[in-house]
Amino acid sequence: MRLIALFLLHLYCSTQTSGANIQITPNGTDGVIQATLNDTVTLVCESEGDTEDENELVWLRNGAKINLQEGNKKGSSRVCISPVIYEDKGATFSCYLHSNASVTASVTLNVTYAPQLSGLEQVTVEEDEMLVLRCDMRANPLVSSMLWKLNGSMVDLQAEGFTVTSDGVTSVLQASRVEKSVHGGTYECTATSPIYNTLTKSFNVTVTEKTMKFPLMPMIAGLVVVFLTALLAIVSRWRKITKCCK
Ligand SMILES: *[C@@H]1O[C@H](CO)[C@@H](O)[C@H](O)[C@H]1NC(C)=O
Ligand SMILES: *[C@@H]1O[C@H](CO)[C@@H](O)[C@H](O)[C@H]1NC(C)=O
Ligand SMILES: *[C@@H]1O[C@H](CO)[C@@H](O)[C@H](O)[C@H]1NC(C)=O
Ligand SMILES: *[C@@H]1O[C@H](CO)[C@@H](O)[C@H](O)[C@H]1NC(C)=O
Ligand SMILES: *[C@@H]1O[C@H](CO)[C@@H](O)[C@H](O)[C@H]1NC(C)=O
Ligand SMILES: *[C@@H]1O[C@H](CO)[C@@H](O)[C@H](O)[C@H]1NC(C)=O
Repeated sequence: MRLIALFLLHLYCSTQTSGANIQITPNGTDGVIQATLNDTVTLVCESEGDTEDENELVWLRNGAKINLQEGNKKGSSRVCISPVIYEDKGATFSCYLHSNASVTASVTLNVTYAPQLSGLEQVTVEEDEMLVLRCDMRANPLVSSMLWKLNGSMVDLQAEGFTVTSDGVTSVLQASRVEKSVHGGTYECTATSPIYNTLTKSFNVTVTEKTMKFPLMPMIAGLVVVFLTALLAIVSRWRKITKCCK
């Protein structure tokens, strides 16, 4: 406690002695501003100093300069984050005095979002081909579980040649060689989140008959050529042989 008090006192003193101070509004709780995806967040940075109008301000997003228009730099400057995107999660916006970079203030965005899971997707896959179904699992806070069901029961990873993988962004269900009786039906992926309700996306998977993937006509043509060449060779050889026997 005493350390914190000393620290605050020091901060207070140093900003006072230089006669300059800047502040970002809103400054959130403990410097963290809560937002959801697609929100608009407006941040205002204001300098309070002796020579207020001369105090040019600079904004940074994660250390990279934000381009500001003339007239949005002196004394007070505004940045608008619209829309808030996934990448804004944890992004730090800071503002400092152009004349003295140690006079600075910053806030961090915390973006909350649920996985984008809804609706019914129609999927057609040929027998013996690979089935790949994907579900978004990007969420803040993280999803606590992601479940895959087929016709209402849990997908049997052991029995039916399914694999489920995830890279933290997408959950992928795969079956390498599709069989109509085993893999056709209605699939669902369901994400459970600590703050959103459970979210589900469905897939209606239809397995169709295998079509001939071979290039059949060119192959027949090729075989015919080979056969005719062989025949000609035999015929000419036969002529030679018969000639020589005469
Ligand atoms: C810049 O600001 C810091 C902190 O307010 C202060 O200690 C320092 O003297 C200032 N430097 C200049 C060159 O004004
Ligand atoms: C946050 O803003 C409030 C009101 O503008 C101000 O009183 C407070 O000192 C600020 N906190 C920080 C950490 O800058
Ligand atoms: C955000 O906007 C995009 C594009 O307009 C939309 O596809 C998406 O569903 C929106 N997300 C949320 C959580 O509102
Ligand atoms: C961000 O928001 C989420 C959801 O409200 C919360 O669980 C998490 O603790 C917050 N993170 C920070 C750094 O504030
Ligand atoms: C799932 O249900 C559909 C429609 O009732 C059925 O045609 C299909 O064979 C079922 N799939 C499995 C793997 O039981
Ligand atoms: C699933 O697909 C089959 C074949 O395309 C179709 O007959 C059936 O109506 C679909 N079911 C749903 C719920 O969309």
